[in-house]
Amino acid sequence: MSCVSASTRRSVTDDLAQEIRQLKEKIGATILAHYYQDGEIQDLADVTGDSLKLARAATRVDSPVIVFCGVHFMAETAKILNPTKRVLLPDLEAGCSLAESCPADKLARYQEMLRLNGRRFQTVTYINSTAATKALSDWIVTSGNAEEVIRRVPPDVEILFVPDKHLGAYLQEVTGRKMILWDGACIVHEIFSVQDLLKLKKQYPQAKTIAHPECPANIREHADFIGGTENMLKYIGRFAEPTDFLVATEANMMWQMQSRFPQHRYHPVPGITCACNKCPHMARNTLEKLRDCMVNLAPEIHWQPEFDQAKKVLERSLLPTAPQAPAPVGD
Ligand code: 13P
Repeated sequence: MSCVSASTRRSVTDDLAQEIRQLKEKIGATILAHYYQDGEIQDLADVTGDSLKLARAATRVDSPVIVFCGVHFMAETAKILNPTKRVLLPDLEAGCSLAESCPADKLARYQEMLRLNGRRFQTVTYINSTAATKALSDWIVTSGNAEEVIRRVPPDVEILFVPDKHLGAYLQEVTGRKMILWDGACIVHEIFSVQDLLKLKKQYPQAKTIAHPECPANIREHADFIGGTENMLKYIGRFAEPTDFLVATEANMMWQMQSRFPQHRYHPVPGITCACNKCPHMARNTLEKLRDCMVNLAPEIHWQPEFDQAKKVLERSLLPTAPQAPAPVGD
């Protein structure tokens, strides 16, 4: 087994970072990176953010190339919202357990069954989904705008919420709207250990616990703050004095927290099987693959027929100026 020393890895990282900066200039690229990417990737990005901020940022990119450091549905969303740009994703296999749990054909069959049973509903879909699934939806939400979008659903129709049952359950609690929930979950957020969280709370009795709404109720009920990644940063920003935070979301998020608010201490809530919980899909993107995709101008997200309809739904849901109303529901 080969063993690379820390200083060798540092110099490789520095060389790669330098190469990536030069390639960025050469090909005219803007790098967008999600907070769940490794710190060294976030460090090179023009914009870091949550799903909502990055989707909106994609619409404002004026360089010819967007390099999206995140998972497939995020890069796909960027392409849909800014179709004339070439959108590159360092690893095309960077998927999402939530998107996988709700394939479009299965959703279409379920919607049909509800309609045949006389149910009048609108489909509210988490952005962690494929474009084909988005195209079957009335609304798209992110952790950052879900409550606001759900308030736009007429009160006299039911809500079919897909694919995250934990986020859906949380939204039921905060909006008071009853929902039909799809049986999907995020493999990262579903496995936080309640026992370990309670141990940490004992160890740091003054600590604030922050949890992503994709966490199950048994974690959320111990949280002082529940919110998506951007809102977590806003919450931490309210603390001037050094504070301990117990963090129940993907572990790379703490890199961003640490860089913005270094006066605090951040403790990852462990997963059931691991000390710190990382998304295996996000981890597929590496500095090497980031460099290679800029050299090869591939892998690229290409326009698909379902993007046309997904674009309409995304625009009316995520872009503040979008005036369009959803199509009538029911049959
Ligand atoms: P945020 O939009 O809160 O960053 O969440 C993205 C995500 O995929 C969580 O698993």
